[in-house]
Amino acid sequence: MYTVPKLEDYSAQALDGAGNELIAALESESAAVDGESAAKAFRDRWMARKNGVLTQLNELWLKLAPVDAKREVGRRVNELKLRVEQTVESVQARPGAEPGRADRLDVTLPGIHHKLGTEHPITRTSNEIVGIFKAMGYSVAEGPEIESDYYNFESLNFPPNHPARDTQDTIFIAGQENKPQRERLLLRTHTSPVQMRTMESQPPPVRVVVPGKVHRHDTADASHSPLFHQVEGLAVDTNITFCDLKGTLDHAMKQLFGGSVKTRFYPSFFPFTEPSADVQISCFKCGGKGCRLCKMSGWIEVLGCGMVDPNVFEFVKHNGYDPKRISGFAFGMGVERIAMLKYGIDDIQLFFQGDVRFLEQFA
Ligand code: PHE
Repeated sequence: MYTVPKLEDYSAQALDGAGNELIAALESESAAVDGESAAKAFRDRWMARKNGVLTQLNELWLKLAPVDAKREVGRRVNELKLRVEQTVESVQARPGAEPGRADRLDVTLPGIHHKLGTEHPITRTSNEIVGIFKAMGYSVAEGPEIESDYYNFESLNFPPNHPARDTQDTIFIAGQENKPQRERLLLRTHTSPVQMRTMESQPPPVRVVVPGKVHRHDTADASHSPLFHQVEGLAVDTNITFCDLKGTLDHAMKQLFGGSVKTRFYPSFFPFTEPSADVQISCFKCGGKGCRLCKMSGWIEVLGCGMVDPNVFEFVKHNGYDPKRISGFAFGMGVERIAMLKYGIDDIQLFFQGDVRFLEQFA
């Protein structure tokens, strides 16, 4: 094994020779290093403070050199030092030199398979609903999830302190008692505020669908979640009638659940529509005979809708929405509910848990 010799001759030629001998030893020893502990031993042999080869170079070559050779010996020792450091570094970077790494790279092992991502079933269902309305000429609008009381309630004909507000289980943002009520912020409880925002931003005619997240102060269980998704719709024009509403939603439900489903419009109440209806579809599982899915009724409730209440138009009358001249309909549906029906999912929480075994079924 190589040991650092004392130098007798300080000629350039002799220094070259001694340097080359050291480099040759460095190369052959580094080539023989195999595995984690050998790499560490190699480092120690060449670089240990106490008696490593580099330390010996200092002691035997530099310190003992005559005054007139010191400069040149110093320069060469520095070069060799750099070379040793680089070699030690590259040996330690080899696979197998680091603790825990395999000794060798086995190129015959199968590669790591990265699975492609896919649309979340909620995104997919939301896009599907939006697509059905796009095909009927609707455009897509969005609005903020943090909304003011004005857009979420007041302009939708929920008067302050009206009991209909309680049905929405609102999550309010704290510390706004000093603001007027209409400016106070909350997490929107439905996508309906975008009806008003759309009518403020454009005169009639309007045909829009609005997908988005909504929030309610509900305890999570198999059919409730404090966060869920809706798709809202709004159509305003001259001579829009309840017939248009029925035809539009009947078509949309057939697109969504299959051509054989029937729709039924059941009287309901929303402050911002008059008249209002809940839309039910005939049970696509039992064909209307009655089963567990439709709770033996033959019908499944899927969305809320109605003719836009004239009181709502009053808030945007200045922008062309004179309830004496125009009319419209609106609807809103829960995306989770529709996805659960379409795909036979019995627990809404599955959408939010991120379990790949659930999600990959939609790939
Ligand atoms: N915003 C209502 C809800 O969340 C649904 C709805 C939308 C009803 C539009 C009528 C018209 O319950």
